[in-house]
Amino acid sequence: MATATERDALPRAIRHRFPLLEHQTYLNSCSQGVLSDAVRGAYADYLRDWDEKGAPWEYWMERTESARASFAGLIGADDDEVAVTASVSAGVNAIASGLRIADGRNRIVVSDFEFPTVGQIWHAQEDRGYEIAHVHQGDSPVVPLEAFDAAIDERTALVAVTQVCYRNGACIDLEGVIRIAHERGALVLVDSYQAIGTMPIDVHALGADLLVAGALKYLLASAGLGFLYCRRDLVEQLRPTATGWFADADVFAMDIQDYSPAPDARRFQAGTPPIPSIYAGIAGIELMKEIGVAATRAHVSQLNEALIAGADELGGHVVTPRDPASRGALVAIRSTDEHALVAALAADGILTSSRDGNLRVSAHCYNTHEDIETLLAGLGRHRSLLA
Ligand SMILES: Cc1ncc(COP(=O)(O)O)c(C=O)c1O
Repeated sequence: MATATERDALPRAIRHRFPLLEHQTYLNSCSQGVLSDAVRGAYADYLRDWDEKGAPWEYWMERTESARASFAGLIGADDDEVAVTASVSAGVNAIASGLRIADGRNRIVVSDFEFPTVGQIWHAQEDRGYEIAHVHQGDSPVVPLEAFDAAIDERTALVAVTQVCYRNGACIDLEGVIRIAHERGALVLVDSYQAIGTMPIDVHALGADLLVAGALKYLLASAGLGFLYCRRDLVEQLRPTATGWFADADVFAMDIQDYSPAPDARRFQAGTPPIPSIYAGIAGIELMKEIGVAATRAHVSQLNEALIAGADELGGHVVTPRDPASRGALVAIRSTDEHALVAALAADGILTSSRDGNLRVSAHCYNTHEDIETLLAGLGRHRSLLA
């Protein structure tokens, strides 16, 4: 049996880098990661560079390339397969605008687990002749593979699927969905925002065609930065009409006579890159690489075992799958009034969040078993708010 020190070796080695943890029990990384010394320092560097160098655009372009490389390294992509965007929404819009209906493929398959922005962007494509088909969760905690099998057909252009659901923390069988979609000639777009930083991802091994994620949750950075991966041999088949000068083959040609998108994934970018967020994003991603995504996955799985066992003992109803392989970092627990429960816990110094009738508890690399015990004690005090 591991001692308390052994089982929390990972967080104990890094907690001093996240000052907020000294006075809060923070279990809300599915919304926003905790500010680290590295990310704070990156913002200071941005201000220093601006102040000292005036308008150092060449250097800021280098920083943008570093962000591209940093993210590519995290997901096993090549740099030219990655676009630096201002949000996941910007990336999905660029992808959607790059699709054309061909060979009667006008169907987009969207899972029940998608984040609103993804569902909304695909429904906006109805105006361009696309039909949107939803894959339902039914009574299962995960959207079953059979439901994808029934929904994906020879008319399907693309399947939009989240890796981890933002509402209940359930994983979708990505390998299964990608296999079925590819057998039927459809592309797969994976939204990895709730997985990135807590689950190792290798896009080439996975075989995903497209993947989007952002920096502000488990990548420890802040708002204003997203990334998009596009498989190299797919890039030139997509011609985004949601575009801008930073997507052009030659950004500084200043040519207004034609549309000539970059031959690589930069064609999915738009306007001036979000430079302050890029400084922070590089710092956050590199810090997560240093801490270790695989080590984080193993540690958070242990925390969540303890959390689920404790919630069971309290008679709570955990809606996240029991099988550790079928869940991300987020665990959702049913509540009679999730907003009141989040507020009551916050008053006790325990930060969580809620969605859809559930309390969301999202541990990360810096959380300890003591944090989980503190939360469980809080849930015990507010037992009447558990469904
Ligand atoms: C799974 C998922 N996708 C997309 C988004 C939204 O991304 P953005 O605001 O960068 O467009 C979120 C934000 O919480 C999310 O959790």
